[in-house]
Amino acid sequence: MRHVLSAPQFDKPELLEIMNQAADMENILTTKGFSTMAEGKILATFFYEPSTRTRLSFETAMNRLGGKVISVSDGQSSSAKKGETVEDTMQVISGYADVIAMRSSEVGFAERATKTSLVPIINGGDGPGEHPTQSLLDLYTIQKQFGLEKPLRIAFVGDLKYGRTVHSLQNLLRNFDNFSIDWVAPKELDIQDKYFNAGTDRKFTELTDEVLAEADIVYMTRIQQERFDDVAEYERLKDVFILDAAKVAKMKKEAIILHPLPRVDEIATDVDPLPQAKYFEQARNGVPVRMTLIARALEII
Ligand code: CP
Repeated sequence: MRHVLSAPQFDKPELLEIMNQAADMENILTTKGFSTMAEGKILATFFYEPSTRTRLSFETAMNRLGGKVISVSDGQSSSAKKGETVEDTMQVISGYADVIAMRSSEVGFAERATKTSLVPIINGGDGPGEHPTQSLLDLYTIQKQFGLEKPLRIAFVGDLKYGRTVHSLQNLLRNFDNFSIDWVAPKELDIQDKYFNAGTDRKFTELTDEVLAEADIVYMTRIQQERFDDVAEYERLKDVFILDAAKVAKMKKEAIILHPLPRVDEIATDVDPLPQAKYFEQARNGVPVRMTLIARALEII
């Protein structure tokens, strides 16, 4: 089954294939607006953790493909609240749907779901672990802007410890030889050693002028309040980096700013009208990329 569980499952040829298929899906969206490709198929979205973009863009994607959607938007309103295991839940839901997109606060939860599911599982975020579908839409956004061949420096900024989108995207970028990575985080939220490549990457504890001036992509992240046990530590760190228009003025004119969203205060709203701000366009790219992932899971492309 074509599960989507984790970024390392993709190699470069498959990533390039997905990028091309997503462009085809975007073409469908911008011309006809919909397809009948998934007619008669059902997507189940089962989210144990809050979501706006991931769940709704998966559902939009399935609707645009001509399929239907069943949804649990709040795991606490499901029988998980009564103690049902994910293994039992997925065995049951996979009897109702042809593909399942899910989110949980537990690392490895989607992988657990595959043990009993009769249909493909798509990981829509597993706690502080990974968010592979976000990283694919991030890659698509980067490709649309720059292509995937020229040398590019990306600065990941903010909560690198708990930021699952960063964990997945850095992995996808390792498939290409042209990306250099700067990690910018306070020491408490530093990138884990398993993601750091000492040979090529650089680490910073401040969002310096040097980082801003050299970056082609500044990838901001939210400090993940929900992952902190210590509220005081969250309060101390939550505004550690704020990107505002004055800081953006230090960036290259052709550089871009990405953020998986939601943002809190880490990007000031005075950045939104600037040409470098691509985060809302990035969120829109979730639809063609998730159309692609659903269609691949259903083996209709
Ligand atoms: N980027 C992202 O995962 O957003 P949501 O939490 O709103 O789904």
